[in-house]
Amino acid sequence: MPVITEIEDLKRIYRHRTPKMFFDYCESGSWTEQTFRENSSDFDKLYLRQRVAVDMTGRSTATQMIGQDVSMPVALAPVGSTGMQWPDGEILACKAAHAFGTQFTLSTMSVCSIEDVAAHVDKPFWFQLYVMRDWDFVVRMIERAKEAKCSALVLTLDLQILGQRHKDLKNGLSVPLRPSLANIFDLSTKWAWGRAMMKTPRRTFGNIVGHAKGVSNLTSLSAWTAESFDPRLDWEKVKEIKRLWGGPLILKGILDAEDAKLALNVGADAIVVSNHGGRQLDGALSSIRALPSILDAVGDKIEVHLDSGIRSGQDVLKAMAMGAKGTFIGRAAIYGLGAMGQAGVTRALEIIHKELDFSMALCGRRTIDEVDRDILLIPEDFSGKWQATA
Ligand SMILES: Cc1cc2nc3c(=O)[nH]c(=O)nc-3n(C[C@H](O)[C@H](O)[C@H](O)COP(=O)(O)O)c2cc1C
Repeated sequence: MPVITEIEDLKRIYRHRTPKMFFDYCESGSWTEQTFRENSSDFDKLYLRQRVAVDMTGRSTATQMIGQDVSMPVALAPVGSTGMQWPDGEILACKAAHAFGTQFTLSTMSVCSIEDVAAHVDKPFWFQLYVMRDWDFVVRMIERAKEAKCSALVLTLDLQILGQRHKDLKNGLSVPLRPSLANIFDLSTKWAWGRAMMKTPRRTFGNIVGHAKGVSNLTSLSAWTAESFDPRLDWEKVKEIKRLWGGPLILKGILDAEDAKLALNVGADAIVVSNHGGRQLDGALSSIRALPSILDAVGDKIEVHLDSGIRSGQDVLKAMAMGAKGTFIGRAAIYGLGAMGQAGVTRALEIIHKELDFSMALCGRRTIDEVDRDILLIPEDFSGKWQATA
């Protein structure tokens, strides 16, 4: 058994075990992948201030996200098709997050359905909603999230159309799958994955098949997903969704201070500064670089979370020190899941927790409340000096 000390170790095992087309699906950004790369590399431009001779006993990473207790400010981001990375992946990832004392977000495009996950875990989880053209489906999905007792709705705003990821097209990742010859060969070598997947009945989009109008099998699902996301989504619809949901609302995919102000007007409980892990607008700022201007605009009026690019506890600490009130991890948890199932997600959370805890201590801070910009060295040009926008 390899010694696993960092997220990169989990990624190596995940890559080895998982069919290339599913690994590539996770490990892609859109187009040139500039934003995907910079999401992580921009964290490296921030430095932490080492402080000494500060009592570091009695430390805690516990805090709250939207008023809910978490053992550290790191929740699991919604990731579509998680159940194709490891059988029953959504249920297992949710169990791992809950056992660790943090939160799991189920994607609309999950393999395990919302009812299925609710039936297998003992605590409420968060549900992520995509707005589809089929408004009845959206309304019903919100009802289903309420019936499943989800404790927050995460409404994703940055995917009205799908950013192109070259690898998915080249690999033939579609619904139903049309793998290239090279991928058929690759699939045949991933026998542990294949054998495990054969044992679960959960192999399609559980929230959609049997629920969306006219989608009863894989072929009709294919037609549905191709044109289902609603390109007309606007702030009026966001308000309508808030009204229909009536519970804690998190708006995900905010990358601009002007949009952050609009999100504030809608009355959301939190926003997630996110570029969808670099999977949508290639050439957009990394989330960590976009964060300061958004905090300046709304940071004292609404809870600001961040995702995209987090691969370590040090990254979490930098985001929190900048002023975020919580973070999400997407791929870091998927690497763990794809490597070792539930135990792998737990391992990913343990790694990030230890890195966060130790780094916080070495910066002379004992609690998340004490973490502030004072522990960060931010290059003067970090947020960029841009010509005035209209
Ligand atoms: C494979 C994959 C699938 C994703 N599916 C969804 C999704 O269904 N809904 C959503 O809101 N975001 C989705 N995201 C974006 C994540 O929620 C999150 O914003 C992103 O992964 C954060 O970046 P990170 O992976 O670098 O941590 C997905 C990301 C990945 C990598």
